[in-house]
Amino acid sequence: MLDFKKEVVNSLHQAIEGLEKEEIESLVEIPPNYDMGDYAFPCFKLAKIYRKAPNLIAEEVVEKIEKGEIFERVENVGPYINFFINKTKMTEVVLKAIAEEKEKFGSTNIGNGRTVLVEFSSPNIAKPFHIGHIRTTVIGNAIEKIFKFQGFNTVRLNHLGDYGTQFGMLIAAYKKWGDTEVIEKDPINELLKLYVRFNAEAEKDEELRDEARYWFKELEEGNEEAFELWQWIRDISLKEFNKVYKLLNIEFDSYAGESFYSDKMDRVIKELEEKNLLEESRGAKIVDLEPYGMPPALIQKSDGSTLYITRDIAAAIYRKEHYDFYKNIYVVASQQNLHFKQLIKIVDLMGYDWAYDCVHVPFGMVSLEDGTLSTREGRVVFLEDVLNKAIESTLKIIEERSPELENKEEVAKEVGVGAVVFQELFNNRIKDYVFSWDRTLSFEGETGPYVQYTHARANSLLEKGEFDLKEEIDYSLLKEEDEVNLIRLLYNFPEAVLDALEKYEPSFITRHVVEVAKAFNKFYNSCPILSADEELKKARLNLVYAAKTVIKTALSLLGIAAPNKM
Ligand code: ARG
Repeated sequence: MLDFKKEVVNSLHQAIEGLEKEEIESLVEIPPNYDMGDYAFPCFKLAKIYRKAPNLIAEEVVEKIEKGEIFERVENVGPYINFFINKTKMTEVVLKAIAEEKEKFGSTNIGNGRTVLVEFSSPNIAKPFHIGHIRTTVIGNAIEKIFKFQGFNTVRLNHLGDYGTQFGMLIAAYKKWGDTEVIEKDPINELLKLYVRFNAEAEKDEELRDEARYWFKELEEGNEEAFELWQWIRDISLKEFNKVYKLLNIEFDSYAGESFYSDKMDRVIKELEEKNLLEESRGAKIVDLEPYGMPPALIQKSDGSTLYITRDIAAAIYRKEHYDFYKNIYVVASQQNLHFKQLIKIVDLMGYDWAYDCVHVPFGMVSLEDGTLSTREGRVVFLEDVLNKAIESTLKIIEERSPELENKEEVAKEVGVGAVVFQELFNNRIKDYVFSWDRTLSFEGETGPYVQYTHARANSLLEKGEFDLKEEIDYSLLKEEDEVNLIRLLYNFPEAVLDALEKYEPSFITRHVVEVAKAFNKFYNSCPILSADEELKKARLNLVYAAKTVIKTALSLLGIAAPNKM
């Protein structure tokens, strides 16, 4: 697709001396409002170079710029040079590109087959998969799709929390009070009960802690009974988690979690020792990170057991050797910022030049409208329940609004789940936010259902208008303000996707698609489509098709379905 920004940069480059193309490009802005042009160039930097007032420079440069067929107008306002793109040209460029590339519009091959690992979700087994886990799950899913869309070879990793001393506790508790049948019926709740009971009783009876330690040691040393119990707990937990993944339509390439690395720990410890990075501290082994302004990292406890970070060091090395990644992305809550800073620093200190190809992508917390989440106080909201509730409420709304709709259940699932996912991806990921049912399920405003509904509306227009993509159209007919605004947003979609990739920020796409949907509805309300004259109708339907296609692609990058009818 013709890159208008590049055209702006080129014509500026020809008109001014003293600035490289890259510099010009970094200065070109998209004005906050399109009365000020499609692109703008501020002359402050040139003013410094030429020791002249920026207004004067802007005036001089404008004189030298050739308008050609691409710019409708180029004018200066104060220190700015504003570029107005020829609207017919823009319409032609973008509608043709979408008609040709269809659902691939916005993709590139910048990845060139390089491998990007995206680790996300990674819940702890035998623990509830609660609303707090939704963010890593849906942000990671979207990030993977965005990278794939840009030509990277992506691998989806679920680094399950399936190892550690708490499994000693669980095994000990199960052996005391466990009932297989009861647990199989409601695994997570029952395992959680065992865990809570064990902790409570251990407060009174110190010996229980020894039992837990004993069982964890047995597990580490390959005791068959311990291993089988652990395996069973892992299996039934994963079965529960898979219900949620199925609702979200999410799959993983690998579930190699913490336990997978349990036999790769000796090597890490040996290597750290050889590289003189380990220090003794009260019988335990640590890596001193004080010179880097961080607390020490505990690598091995005095009883010989390893820790979360030890397994992460092993995982990073394994992933490099196994996948030879270009980037190894961890989508994990910002509470673990320090952990990942320590991890990456240690890998760096070990001399691995790929240490900084490991990227932690943090995100803020979710809380509920009536307070924060707490597993300990039993204030958990299971993610599965949230999704099911969303599906149920959506089904009710559909029954009211479109009782004659076919496969209502399927659509309710797509819209209900989509609503929850959309809300998660709407805000900048780093922000904490409050989960709201009302907002999530609204069919109005900046919500998933609103965007999905817009997509369905576009689809029905295309059906009613018997749209044919192969027909020639007259691009110059699309010149109403609401048409041009929509076209411009479609044109800018590829850039929004690239920004999302660069910043690991799916919300750029969410925000953009909301703008597209709003602009589409404005266009729909102000410009007659099916009742317009034949030529105009054809052109407008083509725009409807383009908008529908972009909305669908955007939703699919976010992991959200786009039903044709709702
Ligand atoms: N299981 C951990 C948790 O729920 C998240 C794992 C994050 N990934 C990692 N490689 N440490 O907190």
